Amino acid sequence: MKVLIVGSGGREHAIAYNVSQNKKVEKIYCAPGNAGIAALAECVPIGAMEFERIVAFSKENAIDLVIVGMDDPLVGGLVDELEAAGIRAFGPRKNAAILEGSKAFSKDLMKKYKIPTAGYENFDDPQKALEYLETAKYPIVLKADGLALGKGVLICNTLGEAKEGVQSIMQDKKFGSAGNTMVIEEFMTGREVSVLSFVDGKTIKTMTSAQDHKRAKDGDQGLNTGGMGTFSPSPFYTKEVEDFCNQYVYQATVDAMAAEGREFKGIIFFGLMLTSDGPKVLEYNARFGDPEAQVVLPRMKTDLIDVIEACIDGTLDQVDLQFEENAAVCVVLASDGYPVSYDKGLPISGLEEFDKQDGYYCFHAGTKFDGDQIVTNGGRVLGVTAKGATLKEARANAYAATKWVQFDNKYMRNDIGKAIDEA
Ligand code: AMP
Ligand code: GLY
Repeated sequence: MKVLIVGSGGREHAIAYNVSQNKKVEKIYCAPGNAGIAALAECVPIGAMEFERIVAFSKENAIDLVIVGMDDPLVGGLVDELEAAGIRAFGPRKNAAILEGSKAFSKDLMKKYKIPTAGYENFDDPQKALEYLETAKYPIVLKADGLALGKGVLICNTLGEAKEGVQSIMQDKKFGSAGNTMVIEEFMTGREVSVLSFVDGKTIKTMTSAQDHKRAKDGDQGLNTGGMGTFSPSPFYTKEVEDFCNQYVYQATVDAMAAEGREFKGIIFFGLMLTSDGPKVLEYNARFGDPEAQVVLPRMKTDLIDVIEACIDGTLDQVDLQFEENAAVCVVLASDGYPVSYDKGLPISGLEEFDKQDGYYCFHAGTKFDGDQIVTNGGRVLGVTAKGATLKEARANAYAATKWVQFDNKYMRNDIGKAIDEA
């Protein structure tokens, strides 16, 4: 079997790792991939949004399965184009990827089908949004409707800040057309949990839980980033929370999409907030989380290719999805200055240590080859994942492994998973 993975980050490296464990898989390609993925796959210089080239490559190389890791190509309809060309692809079609691609759509869906979420209003007229803000309760949350690299959410403490937010999202178009429509929603407080799931259109099977750390600095200070580290499972995702979400969130979302004529096949990522009124959906994503995948996939016992094929074939009900009874922590090694400005092209050493020990993984996020040397090529450079019998052990192991790797300006948070001490 020949598999093509579309994407270039730590998530796609983690996917490639699980795919490489399947005995039926004889060859993996990745478009465009990175220097770490290149150890498992042949990286081809085709961008994730170059749909025609991806389709042509898949035909020429008789690809049996394309796994789309990233949100932009899913929302843009890559799966539809692959299917139209007769190529098997994993991920939602365009009409279902809207679950992530439009926050206004997902809020309306939740309201219509009574899935618990924050109260909100959608606006496509900035004047109406400004009027609404005059009488709103603060803090309040403004969200650009479309994809904005995880940066389109503003938490505003005052009317003044919120007015500036409307200006930057809807009028200055800070996030481009993603800001043509805006959601204004109630501010909630509570712990966040990420639950990823496999979906075959009808059946949903949730994976083990995880938690991300989105802010750049220790103690959840600093700017929002793509994610500075994760742990899995979350001790805050109790049986009670899981039962509630089984009853009111997970299957309800899959059924709602089907009822709307938008059958969802692929991954649904539920961003949950555990509020004092019970769990509520913060957001949906239509793909694996990054860096959630880097702690969830290494703990997956069931073969990833088998589950993906069951999703495509509509036989997920027959899969017994299993995870290891342990824990994993991923610490992101970034280039100092991320997410604002940082150097690239810095040589990385020590990567070979990870080949010597089981239970340790170094997933590449932003790296490339400069001749034979692997160098940094992004703000988030590597995701160092370690397993352990408990979260505490996994955390100690992951931080020990961060010392194996060196590059100039190496930066990380020192408190990934620290919240577990309070659990
Ligand atoms: P989202 O992309 O919708 O997940 O938003 C990014 C982050 O903003 C979330 O992970 C939360 O930390 C925060 N956030 C989003 N919506 C709300 C809300 N209604 N109340 C409080 N925080 C929120
Ligand atoms: N880690 C959050 C995301 O992938 O969107």
